[in-house]
Order: sequence, then C-alpha cells, then structure tokens
Amino acid sequence: MPSGSLEISSGVFWVGVEDWDRRVFDAFIPLPYGTSYNSYLIVGSNKSALIDTVNPGFEGSLLREISQILAPEKLDYVIMNHAEPDHAGSIPAVLKIAKHAKLVASKLGVNMAEMYFKVPHERQIRVKENDVIELGGKTLRFIEAPWLHWPETMFTYDMAEKVLFSCDFFGSHMTSGKLYADEVGKLLQPEAKRYYAEIMMPFSASVQQALDKVKLLQPEKIAPSHGPVYRDPQAIIELYEKWARGPLEKKVVVIYVSMWGNTEALQRVITETISSKGIEVIPYNLTVSDVSHVLRDLVDASAVVIGSPTVLGGAHPLAMYATELVASFGVRGKIAAVFGSFGWGGGAVRRLTARLEKGGFEIVDALEVRGPPEEEHFRRAVTLSEAIADKVAGET
Ligand SMILES: Cc1cc2nc3c(=O)[nH]c(=O)nc-3n(C[C@H](O)[C@H](O)[C@H](O)COP(=O)(O)O)c2cc1C
Ligand SMILES: [Fe+2]
Ligand SMILES: [Fe+2]
Repeated sequence: MPSGSLEISSGVFWVGVEDWDRRVFDAFIPLPYGTSYNSYLIVGSNKSALIDTVNPGFEGSLLREISQILAPEKLDYVIMNHAEPDHAGSIPAVLKIAKHAKLVASKLGVNMAEMYFKVPHERQIRVKENDVIELGGKTLRFIEAPWLHWPETMFTYDMAEKVLFSCDFFGSHMTSGKLYADEVGKLLQPEAKRYYAEIMMPFSASVQQALDKVKLLQPEKIAPSHGPVYRDPQAIIELYEKWARGPLEKKVVVIYVSMWGNTEALQRVITETISSKGIEVIPYNLTVSDVSHVLRDLVDASAVVIGSPTVLGGAHPLAMYATELVASFGVRGKIAAVFGSFGWGGGAVRRLTARLEKGGFEIVDALEVRGPPEEEHFRRAVTLSEAIADKVAGET
C-alpha cells in the first residue's frame, strides 16, 4: 500500500497488511502475487469500529496501523464479517487490548467466534439484516450474505459514505502496493476471476442473492478483505453477474494426463478437432498445470473433456484429483466427455464418468483405447470431439 493517507472515504481507513511472501492459500491454491488481509477502521464522532482483522502472525502490524489513527484501547466495536482466520484470526489480540470493545457478527458468526477464538458471551453483539450501529455521524448497517463462502458471512455497509465492506466477496489474492483497483492494471481481473473460481463458484446461488442486494444498495465503493478497493465498482459487479449467471462462452476445457503419450495422442486430435469447429479450446496437461487456472477457465466454459490413462484399475491420481474438483466446485457448463488409454483391464474412463455423472454432468461421449491409439481410435476421437462441439454450439 502507498504511504500517506489511507483514508478511502471520510472516516474510513485501510489498516490491513500486505502478505507479499505468502505463496499458498487453502493449502492448494498458488499465490504468485501474495495476498492482502484488509482491515478497515471506521471512525465516527463518538465511536469507532474495526471491520475484520488480519491473518494470525500480523497482529502487531494491525495494531500499529490502527494506532496511527486512534489508540486501539479506545475501539468500541470489532465487526467480524467472516470467521475464517485470515480475517478473524487477530480478533483475540485486538479484543485483549481493546478491553471495552464488543464483537459484532451474524448469529452463526458469534457462535463461530466463540468456538474458534473463545470470544465470551458478554462481549458478543449478534446482528441480523438491516440492524445498524451508530458511531456518531456515521451509521453502519449489516446485510446478511450467507454462504460467501462460509455459512456465517455478512456484509457491513457505511450508509453515509456508501462503502460496502464485502469481505471475501469481490476479493482477489493480490499485493500490489496499490490501494485501488484502477491503479493495479491488467493483472487484477484474471486474479479476481481465479479467486472467484476457488472461493465463490461453488456457491453461485448465494452469489446471485448477494448480487441482487448489492445492486439495490448501489455502493460507491466496494472494500473487500483481499486485494484492492473498487472505487468504481460497476465493472466488478458486472463481472460477478457474468460469472454467476451470465451466458457461458463457447469454450471447452480439455484436462488430461499421460504417462507414455497414448492418452496425449488422443488429446491432440480432440483439441484440434474442437478448435477446427470454431470453438475455443484450452488444453491443460495436469502434470504441469496449476489447477486454479483450470478452475478459472471452468467459470464460463460450456464443456469439459477429461483424459486419463488407467492406473491400478482406476484413473491416474492427478486426473482423480482434477475430476473431483470439476465435479464438486459448482462448474456451470455441465457438458462432458471422457477419454483415455489402458494396458489390460482399463477402468479410468468408467471411474471418471461415474464421478462426473454424480456431479450432475451430462456425458456426451466416452472413449477408452487399449494401448497406443490407431487410425480407427483417432476417428473415434474425432466423433467424440464433434459431439462435444455440436452440443456446445447448440447450447450457447
Ligand atoms: C503405474 C501404472 C499402473 C497401471 N495400471 C493399469 C491398470 O490397472 N489397468 C490397465 O488396464 N492398465 C494399467 N496401466 C497401463 C496404462 O494404462 C497403459 O500403459 C496406457 O496405455 C498408458 O497411457 P498413457 O500413455 O496415456 O500414459 C498402468 C500403467 C502404469 C505406469
Ligand atoms: Fe474466507
Ligand atoms: Fe479470506
């Protein structure tokens, strides 16, 4: 963040930290640009509130940032929009110093604060939709926004300044030294989408409900808890609209793994054939790919094709892993095909097909080839690709 004034609106201060060195989130998502834990201090004429805290380990930095504006001992409220430790993990340190401060959270939130952070009952304030707290010349309103991406999540809204504090919603894993989205440049949108894919895509029904509320509020700024602040939020709201319920792209994601090149030979024909039909196709070799990129492309893809050799009667472990993600992460384009090579008994295609069907996918074709594919198998790979391409062309 730049030095100097970090007042994003009158009486609203950014007091978070940038974790430049963090390289993994949720124990599997790479963070090439680190991430930030944004905490906001809201100062009214007679009371003050802190909205969300920071990841454990950064308590000292948070308290120092707060101290530049106000003695942390004087805080009246700590608002917890979300109980996950990257935002709530420093609550114990803040409440210890701010001896009179109360923790404000949703009904489930206060329960989770007690469970995770041992916040005692007498220090909890439970809020529901449209409840407010008055800070003096400043009113904070609470908006229920459950399942973004935990059950207790809520938003806080500064009514006078029209700033929406949305926590993970509209977040991105990004450290840039910049406070505002419009200062970050081209890197931001793909990172916001990658974040959306992992955190929000499994909850698109809740995303849609929350978007309807956000659109009614018409916030002038959106201040999430990761990545930069949007001071012109229309574009990110429209992107969320598109990702959660907009039309899908004429795009097919091909995910494959191959030990000796046989499955890969089929993949090449499949990728070329789909592409020749005028449909965008993105192949991912799982051996060298980042699954968060796969998930990002699946946000608006119409179809997925998965290829794996048979290993120990099932699919290759990387294909099992990726297929589990595809089937359980709320991918909207539910058209699929499966292919692969085997040596003796086979089984990969059967295994992956079953998992995708359980996840609600329609399997338009499946192809399992013994050993290296021959001419007839390549012809079958072409018909599989045509079935996918025709279905995608018809659906979108
Ligand atoms: C570790 C390992 C385990 C395998 N297990 C099986 C199996 O259980 N059943 C089978 O039909 N083939 C099995 N195979 C054979 C492969 O499926 C076969 O060689 C296939 O053509 C490899 O495809 P690829 O070139 O795309 O890696 C196994 C191969 C390896 C290396
Ligand atoms: Fe979270
Ligand atoms: Fe988070």
